[in-house]
Amino acid sequence: MAKALIPAAGMGTRYLPLSKAVPKELIPVNGFPVLHHVVAEAKAVGCREIGIVLSEGKEAIRTYFSEDSELLAWLDGNGKRHVMSEWEALMEGLTFRWIDQPEQRGLGDAIACGESFADGDPVCVLLGDTIMEGGSPLGPMVAHYRKSGFSQVAVEPVSRSKAVRYGVCGGVRDGDGNFQLNRMVEKPLSEQIPMMRDERGQPLQDAYAFAARYVLTPTVFGALHAIPPGHNGEVQLTDAMAVVLEKEGFGAVAIPGRRLDVGTR
Ligand code: G1P
Repeated sequence: MAKALIPAAGMGTRYLPLSKAVPKELIPVNGFPVLHHVVAEAKAVGCREIGIVLSEGKEAIRTYFSEDSELLAWLDGNGKRHVMSEWEALMEGLTFRWIDQPEQRGLGDAIACGESFADGDPVCVLLGDTIMEGGSPLGPMVAHYRKSGFSQVAVEPVSRSKAVRYGVCGGVRDGDGNFQLNRMVEKPLSEQIPMMRDERGQPLQDAYAFAARYVLTPTVFGALHAIPPGHNGEVQLTDAMAVVLEKEGFGAVAIPGRRLDVGTR
């Protein structure tokens, strides 16, 4: 998979006042910004073209991923180039496209802004404010996409009481422990939470929430243009994915560890 589309345009309201000055995606975890880890995760599954969706006020993200030849020359002259070695190793072989989201109209709208970057190709989508502790689901997702041709979404089991905060899906688990989906709802009312079933058709107790990683066929872009605003009056990626599900089918892969969303303190 050559292209990774990374939305990083959100306001970061839950991180105010810090996010007035520092995009939440640049908050450090283990000494590197969250977005550095996210780009490394995309690179690990072969993505070399990185499209990052930004909004006004988030220019520091672009600065982080831009080469500063004066800084490098100064570091060379002072025997300190090694401090940039991990950054330089990440940047090796990557090209960046900066995509503007002029208005904050939801995650679906941010993805729609990446249509010309995708240019008819499938894309990995990684939410720029979320890291995966305990391993990335993207490797198995790309493998399943290649095998089936279906779009894929990462899912995380959550209690039914928490499910109302997420995009949630229903479907059936297959013999490999992955899922064939048949329903998707963004932030469902508790009585609308779709049911996930095991290989024998028995209902699973947990709900399955979307977990910040996707492999999407280009069909999603047409769907994003066609759908009306959804939950919260925003263009919801989940609503467009539901259209893709009807047209082509959709698979899901459970994340191996935990989803850590820096948007929440
Ligand atoms: C977004 C998605 C939702 C997903 C969640 C976590 O919601 O719309 O489907 O479950 O991220 O990845 P948000 O956190 O922006 O409300």
